[in-house]
Amino acid sequence: MQTRITEMLGIEIPIIQAPMGWIARSSLASAVSNAGGLGIIETSSGDMDAIKIEILAMRELTGKPWGVNIAQHFVRDPQALVDFVAENEVGFVTTSAGDPAVLVPRLKELGVTVFHVVPTMRGAQKAIDAGVDGLVVEGIEGGGFKNADGASSLVLVPEIASRFDVPVVAAGGFVDGRSMAAAFAMGAEAVQMGTRMVASIESPVHANWKQALIDAKESDTVVVNRHHRPAMRTLRTELTGRLEADDEPAILNIDDMMKLYFGGDMEVGVAMAGQVAGRVRSIEPVESILRDAWDDCRAVLRELGSRAE
Ligand SMILES: Cc1cc2nc3c(=O)[nH]c(=O)nc-3n(C[C@H](O)[C@H](O)[C@H](O)COP(=O)(O)O)c2cc1C
Repeated sequence: MQTRITEMLGIEIPIIQAPMGWIARSSLASAVSNAGGLGIIETSSGDMDAIKIEILAMRELTGKPWGVNIAQHFVRDPQALVDFVAENEVGFVTTSAGDPAVLVPRLKELGVTVFHVVPTMRGAQKAIDAGVDGLVVEGIEGGGFKNADGASSLVLVPEIASRFDVPVVAAGGFVDGRSMAAAFAMGAEAVQMGTRMVASIESPVHANWKQALIDAKESDTVVVNRHHRPAMRTLRTELTGRLEADDEPAILNIDDMMKLYFGGDMEVGVAMAGQVAGRVRSIEPVESILRDAWDDCRAVLRELGSRAE
């Protein structure tokens, strides 16, 4: 089964691994690409020296297609990064956290396929006006940075997919074959998985974070910074529960984040996660996550198709 996105990106399985600060590095991204999906290197950590090394490492670790996310707000010199990406023959970029009109025209000139990440209908229109090749549509149930007033994937994806001609990647709530099949029914042509990828063998985060995802119920995430910026969906801990209840700003301090991400201290910062944490039950190698989701997705679609006859 092909979609416009598998054809455009030259991938076998329409699953894209989400860009995630410090997590979406070459060990995870190359595993996703080698398994037939599309791995993405993050830039939202803002750690440009390390990111350049990761981009160069990808060229060694996989011969399959992969991409880079340019999180405009977090990158000091996005234009220089565009040049670096093009020099290193990166064929696919997602832009996010900024005005699509700033980078999309130059990326297109350089022959790069560009999708912009959008949380609203208005954002989608701006990205279309900037000339994107496709959209990553992010529902509020997903992990990470969020538009606090955003709508769920169930509302956003069909609305945007039916309004615009470009292909849509559905992000937020997609974790397995059944949810992928739902994304296709809503008009998406690929899904992006964040939370599911954090709980993979190849994800570099501390085992405590992975275990917290396994233990979480679907109601165990909170949106912090609802009235401050940036709003983020994170796992519920003592700290994040208190920040949410008191409407206090969650401050992203790099030292604390490193203690959480790689030291496993879950109470010193925010561990971003989507509501699908409640559906993640095991830590698996990326290859089986992709293969099982894709096989199950096609089985669900076949079954529904035969029932609709
Ligand atoms: C741990 C984590 C970190 C994330 N970090 C970023 C980020 O740095 N930049 C970004 O644009 N999105 C980030 N996201 C959002 C993802 O790119 C993706 O859209 C989202 O995870 C999809 O929803 P899901 O969690 O239900 O799969 C993050 C998500 C998670 C779970």
